[in-house]
Amino acid sequence: MSKDLQPFWDALKADWARLEHVHLRDMFAQSPDRFTDFSVSKDDLTLDFSKERIDANAWGNLLALAKATNVEAKRDAMFAGDHINNTEDRAVMHVALRAIADDGYAVDGKATAPLVDETLERFLTFADAVRDGSITNARGQLFTDVVNIGIGGSDLGPVMAVNATAAYGTEGPNLHFLANVDGADFTDKFADLNPATTLLLIASKTFTTIETMTNATTAKDWLLSELSESEVGQNLAALSTNLKGTQTFGLSDDRVFGFWDWVGGRYSMCGSIGLPIALNMGAANFRNMLAGFRDIDLHFRTAPLAENLPVLLALVGIWRRNIMGCSTLAIMPYDQRLDRFPAYVQQMDMESNGKSVLKSGAPVTGETAPVIWGEVGTNAQHSFFQLIHQGTSIVPVDFIMGANPDHPLHAHHDLLMANFLAQSEALALGKTTKAVQAEMLDSGMDAARAKDLAPHRTFEGNRPSTSIVYDKLTPFALGRLIALYEHKVFVQGAIWDINSFDQWGVELGKQAANQIASVIAGKASAIDLHVSTQNLLKRMQELQKS
Ligand code: F6P
Repeated sequence: MSKDLQPFWDALKADWARLEHVHLRDMFAQSPDRFTDFSVSKDDLTLDFSKERIDANAWGNLLALAKATNVEAKRDAMFAGDHINNTEDRAVMHVALRAIADDGYAVDGKATAPLVDETLERFLTFADAVRDGSITNARGQLFTDVVNIGIGGSDLGPVMAVNATAAYGTEGPNLHFLANVDGADFTDKFADLNPATTLLLIASKTFTTIETMTNATTAKDWLLSELSESEVGQNLAALSTNLKGTQTFGLSDDRVFGFWDWVGGRYSMCGSIGLPIALNMGAANFRNMLAGFRDIDLHFRTAPLAENLPVLLALVGIWRRNIMGCSTLAIMPYDQRLDRFPAYVQQMDMESNGKSVLKSGAPVTGETAPVIWGEVGTNAQHSFFQLIHQGTSIVPVDFIMGANPDHPLHAHHDLLMANFLAQSEALALGKTTKAVQAEMLDSGMDAARAKDLAPHRTFEGNRPSTSIVYDKLTPFALGRLIALYEHKVFVQGAIWDINSFDQWGVELGKQAANQIASVIAGKASAIDLHVSTQNLLKRMQELQKS
């Protein structure tokens, strides 16, 4: 951390020294307007920070930190198409995927809108044509199923969004997602599919990822078990930046939907990687989702820091991580349709900001990304919420919920909403030993037993959470929610001065796996492997023979 920034961090630490022993119960008691003071809204979207352990002074100091770390200038550099991904010498322009020409985005002096519009039109036309049956297999049969073969950013965004917008996916083929190289995944997913009427989408930015290429090769062979060489091309499409790779694989260029090196894999779902989403809900809904993304992009680009939703979400995260010392963040959507949202944000955040060197290459001195995890409510309440309420670690939570459901079971929705509201309240306020004891005595328990049980039933409370609410999970609302988290990750990376857009950490494991795979295939000698690996491999090979 630069010396100039030390006073900003010191001011925040002084805030925490003051707040560490203050209970949220007392903060609310002293300031009944806390909700108004610590919540921000944009249309129907509200972020409620009132149950975070902050006060006005800390809030001001967080904003001062954002200013001092040049968040605004760094944000402007991204939108200007500067090569802010310095280790790969690339621009970071996923915002261009959901822009309109008037937004004026360009990379290396070249406007992005014509490229984006042409590709968007192509893949959305393709999606609608598959949905309405005007594109069929070579035999004129409708596609009944589509399998997206991709991993990481080429899988998680589409899976998450397809689940999230299930209510909008009423027509078209059934969608499946194959990511893992584990043959069990392939075997299970393809068991009931018909090769003649299954369309394969090979989704890989690089078109070199070993898991995806292995699955794609096996899947193409599976198609060929039913179709001839001249027919098979009609059952294939690729979503990739690597045209040479797709050609080598045998795909014709008109079945390749491209994107560009200025779109990171985990930020690519608004481009052709989003084709499965469009196949599920159609072009018009897809465009609504893009409009939701753009709505937050423009807000992020122009709103003052103190009113800027992604900036505030990021600053609260900085407070939890760097000042309170919380090492994880739980994302809890109270919406079954957002069941893959925690996994999606997990990759976006941890692959972006799981870094320990600054952009300059010097080591970071504080903490960077927390461990992101989560599960839908209310399921999570009946599995791990015990620890969040009474465990020894403080786990900050982002609670997410739409006010209106897209199904007719309103009584269920009301109960879900009651749980959503109850959890953040219980975490914040807890329950004192006195209250617990009184409750037990009231229920007729004898005093000695009530005294013994009281420590177990006491809730310390003072556990922080942010609540995010909006009207309804439409494609537009989904776009806004995702962009909110994307820009949050950007702001945190800017404050930590790390490169949020490379992922060298994934490489070491990949290289090691390739080397070991050569040994297993008998193409290289085990002697070059580490002794522990040699022994484990030997043990597994013995088990394979037995
Ligand atoms: O393993 C990391 C990663 O590089 C991710 O960043 C990316 O989303 C994923 O692999 C898949 O990469 P590709 O789309 O090139 O197959």
